[in-house]
Amino acid sequence: MAMLKNDTFLRALLRQPVDYTPIWLMRQAGRYLPEYCATRKVAGSFLQLCKSKELATEVTLQPLERFPLDAAILFSDILTVPDAMGLGLYFAEGEGPKFERPLRDEAAIKALAVPDMRELQYVFDAVSSIRRALDNRVPLIGFSGSPFTLACYMIEGGGSDDFRRVKTMMYDRPELLHHILEINALTVIDYLNAQIDAGAQAVQIFDTWGGALAYGKYQEFSLAYMAKIVAGLKREKDGQRIPVILFTKGGGQWLEELAATGCDALGLDWTVNLAEARRRVGDKVALQGNFDPNALFAQPAAIEQEVKRLLADYGNGSGHVFNLGHGISQFTNPEHVAALVQAVHSHSRAYK
Ligand code: CP3
Repeated sequence: MAMLKNDTFLRALLRQPVDYTPIWLMRQAGRYLPEYCATRKVAGSFLQLCKSKELATEVTLQPLERFPLDAAILFSDILTVPDAMGLGLYFAEGEGPKFERPLRDEAAIKALAVPDMRELQYVFDAVSSIRRALDNRVPLIGFSGSPFTLACYMIEGGGSDDFRRVKTMMYDRPELLHHILEINALTVIDYLNAQIDAGAQAVQIFDTWGGALAYGKYQEFSLAYMAKIVAGLKREKDGQRIPVILFTKGGGQWLEELAATGCDALGLDWTVNLAEARRRVGDKVALQGNFDPNALFAQPAAIEQEVKRLLADYGNGSGHVFNLGHGISQFTNPEHVAALVQAVHSHSRAYK
């Protein structure tokens, strides 16, 4: 296998020595980039963009052409999985994702099954195409939603403020929710392993809504299924370790338990102190995060101060991947992103 020209991201995830702190950004290919908006227009819609391997490859590489980022992330969406299960994903203009056939009755839930991975072949084709286009510049990250986060969209039928339907099911009919989560976990194992086969060099599980669960319910309905996935993933390909990153937004109080799943790294949102998080997880896992995405609205000098604070909090040594605490806003000025990447690369060298 050809050698990566820049493997800093993979080395940091495995807590091996690095010269500087690597950085990538959640949702780094997105609407804050005018070139993304132009390609999306050519595609006709967001879903068409995901389904065209040429255009998905183009937008995956766009942020790397602008900024010296240390990783690329597959351009796709977590909701391709329930779409492949037959729920009918669509994006209503300005309203976010929706499903034509959400899981609203017991019969639909009992009929849910692990989809044929051929339904998701367009994702694996995009992975291979992106790997070719990257030509080993930086590693490619594959991803999936967590079983619980996927279930939120599958049951609510779209985004939600209160997760009323999911939580009603969780308290009234926990066995139904467990059935959905079991199918989701088995599907995500197949889906991520197929991404790894196609060329993904690290994978991240987005548990965007796990943090909305009560203590005890998080462990039972989100964490347990992510642990099952971690245990079912291919961890090595062509002699290279494939690191697994778990990101529960709002999961700062459960870091020890997340670290005990056997994953390689934890994604952190901005509510967590990096020094304390590092002390709590010890040498079990690397940490990824946790710049407040809204701090990118501030001027470059303020962004640089905030970068310095996070780097000082993490302290000396490897094991830190710089990222945002959640996805980048569409209203972000790309020049501020350039300032962020520059500040991380230059100020982190003193700590290595
Ligand atoms: O990080 C990357 O650059 C890779 C691409 C990526 C997208 N979605 C592209 C996208 C990734 C990793 C995701 C994950 C995703 N999708 C999550 C988990 C992470 C998170 O942000 O919490 C969730 C919950 C979704 C579901 C989803 N997809 C929502 C809620 C929306 C609407 C959001 C919005 O800003 O309107 C999407 C659409 C979406 N996914 C966009 C992008 C670039 C915007 C679509 C557009 O171009 O209109």
